[in-house]
Amino acid sequence: MEYKIVTIPGDGIGPEIVREACRVLDQVGESYGHTFSYTKILMGGCSIDEYGVPLTDEALATAKQADAVLLGAVGGNVGNSRWYDVAPNLRPEAGLLAIRKGLNLFANMRPAYLYRELADACPLKKEIIGDGFNMVIMRELTGGLYFGERHTEEVNGVLQATDTLVYNENEIRRIAIKAFDIAMKRRKHVISVDKANVLDSSRLWRKVVEEVAKDYPEVKLEHMLVDNCAMQLVMNPGQFDVVLTENMFGDILSDEASMITGSIGMLSSASFNETKFGLYEPSHGSAPDIAGKDIANPIATILSAAMMLRYSFDLDKEAAAIETAVQEVLTEGWRTSDIMADGCKQVGTTEMGGLIAAKVAANAIN
Ligand code: IPM
Ligand code: MG
Repeated sequence: MEYKIVTIPGDGIGPEIVREACRVLDQVGESYGHTFSYTKILMGGCSIDEYGVPLTDEALATAKQADAVLLGAVGGNVGNSRWYDVAPNLRPEAGLLAIRKGLNLFANMRPAYLYRELADACPLKKEIIGDGFNMVIMRELTGGLYFGERHTEEVNGVLQATDTLVYNENEIRRIAIKAFDIAMKRRKHVISVDKANVLDSSRLWRKVVEEVAKDYPEVKLEHMLVDNCAMQLVMNPGQFDVVLTENMFGDILSDEASMITGSIGMLSSASFNETKFGLYEPSHGSAPDIAGKDIANPIATILSAAMMLRYSFDLDKEAAAIETAVQEVLTEGWRTSDIMADGCKQVGTTEMGGLIAAKVAANAIN
């Protein structure tokens, strides 16, 4: 079968890491008899350079036609005046928000998993790490403060800025359902994170999440205030299975969760609408300072491609083949510079991609 993938290499290290992910996908195709076709679109700074906007209507329309989208990263140094001395809605990151909204990708899934091999890179004490942790953050992605009405005005000669945090019950319900569905396939435990001691939107969030929970009697639901959650993540990360939260809290907590895995260069993510369609991207940014040097870690993007196989194409065996390949390459001691440790062998972006593709090939034969 042929799967149509739209790729968005984007800016900074984006093109290098997407290239390696496609190389691994191609090996999966060869080893397991699938065809992946790629159509590239521009988004972010590279689109601004070419078209003056971070995402064109044509690019969005192309993405809509795909079976899935694979994204590298967008954005650059804020010192880049061509991209940043413009209105906020014309900056590279606005392309990301526009594609999320344009494709209705309301559910963002960010796994945070501690590889045994990388435990030394985890900044937490050994007694806190314990047996490690394996959680997934389900972040609402098309509502809340990111998309509420905002403006800056002068009131009685004083500048004043307003952002609004709006959620309706349907927006909460659909992300809650996704979180409970995922929990059913994992350890059946949802921690819903809010600020219900202060915010109305959080009180509605709690109410709707409790309603949804009634349809999942096997899943244990707990509520946690966001400030406490930030603390618990570094005190007892092992307690988390599925974390369900709104857009802004999810943005902040997912960075925190990624850091305790040792390197943000390892974390994949997926964003979904109501269908099988998904947008897959590493959780990290475009790292412009190391772009083009062949030192970026492509693993997060390669693991995002594995998520694409599993969630959009139902190719579970092939997804697992990529994940096993990554695990084996790490076990053998191969490391990019961000996760380098004593006694390991340092490789660049291209070589890491090649090692993982080779493992996929070898394991398929055996
Ligand atoms: C993320 C990023 C984006 C966000 C930025 C680049 C707009 O931090 O995907 O987490 O805040 O959602
Ligand atoms: Mg973020």
